[in-house]
Amino acid sequence: MTNSNAATAAEAEPHTTTNGSAKLAPTMRALVKSKDQPGLWFEGDRTLPTGSTGTVGVPGPTEALIRVTMAGVCGTDRHIYEWDQWAKGRIPVGIITGHEFVGEIVRVGEGVTRVRVGQRVTAEGHITAGTDFSSRTGNAHIARDMRILGVDRNGCFADYVMLPQDNVWPVHEGVPDKIAAVMDPLGNAVHTVMSAGVSAQSVLITGAGIIGLMAVTVAKAAGASKIFVTDIDERRLKLAKKIGADFVFDPREGDGWIDTIDQHTPGDGCDVLLEMSGAVNAINTGFRALRHGGTAALLGIPSKPFDFDLAKHIIFKGATVLGVNGRRMWATWYQMEELILSGKLQLDDIITHTLPFEQFDDAFKLMQSGDGIKIVLDLSK
Ligand SMILES: NC(=O)c1ccc[n+]([C@@H]2O[C@H](COP(=O)([O-])OP(=O)(O)OC[C@H]3O[C@@H](n4cnc5c(N)ncnc54)[C@H](O)[C@@H]3O)[C@@H](O)[C@H]2O)c1
Ligand SMILES: [Zn+2]
Repeated sequence: MTNSNAATAAEAEPHTTTNGSAKLAPTMRALVKSKDQPGLWFEGDRTLPTGSTGTVGVPGPTEALIRVTMAGVCGTDRHIYEWDQWAKGRIPVGIITGHEFVGEIVRVGEGVTRVRVGQRVTAEGHITAGTDFSSRTGNAHIARDMRILGVDRNGCFADYVMLPQDNVWPVHEGVPDKIAAVMDPLGNAVHTVMSAGVSAQSVLITGAGIIGLMAVTVAKAAGASKIFVTDIDERRLKLAKKIGADFVFDPREGDGWIDTIDQHTPGDGCDVLLEMSGAVNAINTGFRALRHGGTAALLGIPSKPFDFDLAKHIIFKGATVLGVNGRRMWATWYQMEELILSGKLQLDDIITHTLPFEQFDDAFKLMQSGDGIKIVLDLSK
């Protein structure tokens, strides 16, 4: 591969300097956690991101500066907006939030070889130095030194974001912007489904939120034989059915749904549980619905520790339990790209709203009311 600072980029693009870098305004729009209280604050004149060498707007040797065109709003951003216990303990005040996006590379460092100016890209928001045991043994997604975009370092709710080239994922031309902007949560769904293995298996998905719904369409595309879904929101259950679920249940109506799963599976329960709610009741009943010898892949994060019958649900059942964190780098990304390009995923109904960047407040309100599922902010204008 050639260095992306190539003169050809400058020739092709009149708004670039001689080394291929774009001439940029000194400030940008950004959504900032400015105060130690609920809310996010819009800044119109934030300085551009600083590169690893400490210069504003200039990528370090192996970094890329990306102009963000669309950004996905995540449950994590909602935690930061609402300023709950987790957010207060984790998020540094002053940080630019956001970690799901698509954009275009405008500047690269002199040592960048893997990506180039002008490329349409998204990124893996989990950043590691690549030197710890996990990173060096093919498990960078669980690296101990992991820092998260928009959580531990300035994120993508801004006109520009700076990232190491190793975290940048060039987007295939067949992937629309709106989908590229949400490859982070889609990757969570793909990672969970693929780690459990669902081909010709009956699958229970507890929680039909953003990732649970994505998991429904991914599991269907990956060949699940039957898909059962639970949620406490009728609208989400309806959507789950529309995009591939065979049976949907509202657990507020009692535990009878567990018997229904038994009746529709040969092995007294589902083969696979994908837990995507983090709700204690969903975890406990999900394990009850899992057959002996089944596999549970757990993605949902409970808000606090809770009582769980380990002997009954895992040991005597001989269950295989997988903790799922982030996305495998880069196996999940390749699988995700193939799935999107196959045309088998039904994602359009999950992305319920696209709003101008300045209307971020409406995005959070839509999430809070449940009227919106995945909301994408448009920064292109
Ligand atoms: N492990 C990871 O890497 C990772 C990454 C992203 C998100 N998460 C976690 O995954 C979970 C899902 O994320 P999301 O963005 O889809 O969240 P979401 O809020 O969109 O979805 C959660 C869904 O669970 C449903 N739910 C609540 N109580 C339920 C119950 N008792 N039974 C069934 N469904 C119930 C809600 O109605 C909602 O639709 C969250 O817990 C989130 O924190 C984990
Ligand atoms: Zn996210």
